[in-house]
Amino acid sequence: MKRFENKVCLVTGAGSGIGAATSVAFAKEGAIIIAADINEDAAKETAGKIKKDKGKAIFIKVNIAQHSEVKKMVALAVKRFGQLDCAVNCAGIAGKHTLAVHEYPEDDWVNMININLIGTYYCVKEQVKQMLQNGGGNIVNVSSAAGLIAQPFNSPYAASKFGVVGLTRTAAKEYATQNIRINAVCPTAIETPMIMHGRRKLAFNPEALEAAKNYQAMKRMGQPEEVADVILWLCSNESSFITGHAMPVDGGAFA
Ligand SMILES: NC(=O)c1ccc[n+]([C@@H]2O[C@H](COP(=O)([O-])OP(=O)(O)OC[C@H]3O[C@@H](n4cnc5c(N)ncnc54)[C@H](O)[C@@H]3O)[C@@H](O)[C@H]2O)c1
Repeated sequence: MKRFENKVCLVTGAGSGIGAATSVAFAKEGAIIIAADINEDAAKETAGKIKKDKGKAIFIKVNIAQHSEVKKMVALAVKRFGQLDCAVNCAGIAGKHTLAVHEYPEDDWVNMININLIGTYYCVKEQVKQMLQNGGGNIVNVSSAAGLIAQPFNSPYAASKFGVVGLTRTAAKEYATQNIRINAVCPTAIETPMIMHGRRKLAFNPEALEAAKNYQAMKRMGQPEEVADVILWLCSNESSFITGHAMPVDGGAFA
């Protein structure tokens, strides 16, 4: 029997990078995937890829910063499949500026908090409500290395990701006796569209790319599949005594 046979797993940010890799990895282990993303075409593509490989998946467009949309997303999972076993809150943005706190545009600062932190809070809130009815479940929030140490010139990102760790640790304690485990992963540089084409545009900047690789003791970036493996482990029975962790996935950077 596969590790997640017929488990209902909701993944936000499923259209790209770590969320897409996590969706595919869960499906290979027998899970039913609800692939959620603000980019509907991308979510559809991930669900299509899973179905092509004989897996089970549906997709939904959601903006996690809108509480009503998050409620609909969880309701869809329950309506279609009767329960929610695992949730991975991966949707997020990295921002477009490299600026000190006093220079960072206020609207963009607040927007990042609204998506990365408040959006993740809406997700956890609605997922926990359902898991309490199920009798348990597993949640993994995707924070960042920037949720554990400073990331100069990207203050709203660091603040949002530190917030996700605080939410994770606190909620983990609140529901620990109710069979709901809540953990976070904190990756360093992972080769996804966010890092290659986003704020630092590493795909077009060989020097910055080299620096990003050298940050890890392994002198390379991680692959989204390597983060997915950790997320699956945290959602599996193999980690049954672990909750409230904020686990670096860092190629030895923090060693
Ligand atoms: N790539 C890295 O190096 C790295 C490192 C640490 C943490 N992270 C975190 O991992 C997560 C995934 O990042 P990635 O690198 O795979 O990025 P990505 O850009 O490849 O994927 C992010 C996905 O989230 C979706 N999304 C963005 N805003 C959304 C919203 N409001 N509602 C719903 N979906 C939304 C995007 O459409 C996209 O499909 C993010 O939370 C990111 O902060 C990434």
